[in-house]
Amino acid sequence: MIIDPKMEKALNGQVAAELESAYLYLSMAAWFEANDLGGCAHWMKKQAAEEQEHAMKIFDYLSARGGHVILEAIPAPRSEWKNATEIFEQTLAHEQKVTQLIYALVELSMEMKDYATRGMLSWFVQEQVEEEETAMNILAKFRKLGDIPISLAMLDKELGER
Ligand code: FEO
Repeated sequence: MIIDPKMEKALNGQVAAELESAYLYLSMAAWFEANDLGGCAHWMKKQAAEEQEHAMKIFDYLSARGGHVILEAIPAPRSEWKNATEIFEQTLAHEQKVTQLIYALVELSMEMKDYATRGMLSWFVQEQVEEEETAMNILAKFRKLGDIPISLAMLDKELGER
């Protein structure tokens, strides 16, 4: 069954949201590079690549359902932060926001009895649990150790192993 235009529009919005996430994480990677935290930069670049994969999952799904992917404008991301801890605070807050967007799509798919989209979104529901958990764990470490230069160097090395 060809996807309903209302759902098509909502999923196009999510493609943009995932690409906006990629753009934000790439900007964070750039900040880390500029601040000599190469391990954190590596972690953020990987995160940005994952977000692009998320966008492509929805892109391909829309195409498979006979939909048309319309790319929207992506606003410029923030480029300055106080420190690494603030970056991971924003990462967690951002992932929590994305979770809400996914939940709204799940609700819409149920209202519209679009079972195929509901099924596709299950992957994202689970992925968001992981995304939030990862961001929470990293943030906890930076809150505890991020202000101590030697510990910060250790955390940077750890993130570089992603
Ligand atoms: Fe695509 Fe980080 O959620």
